[in-house]
Amino acid sequence: MVRVVYQSHDGTRREVEGDVGTSVMETAIANGVPGIDANCGGACSCATCHVFVEPQWVPSIGEPSPMEQAMLEFVDSARPNSRLSCQIRITPELDGLVVTTPSEQQLI
Ligand code: FES
Repeated sequence: MVRVVYQSHDGTRREVEGDVGTSVMETAIANGVPGIDANCGGACSCATCHVFVEPQWVPSIGEPSPMEQAMLEFVDSARPNSRLSCQIRITPELDGLVVTTPSEQQLI
């Protein structure tokens, strides 16, 4: 199991454990983490799983695919460290990964 920390925009932190090979989105849903709706189920077509990756983790995750990058261009709040959490696969190297959910995804 790999630890993933989800922070809300107000600083609330939830540390959960995810299985290697699953996505950061799937781990959030499985653990009831708010702010990640994943309306498309991980098909890279809704951007409701948008997260900001803490800067120190960006190199470990690597670059988004062209398809993911195209989706992120439709997200108003996107930043250079934005990713779609359904596209981040959990690996042992990501143990301790910290991501933050945008404020507009905390409304539900
Ligand atoms: Fe829809 Fe990630 S779940 S883009």
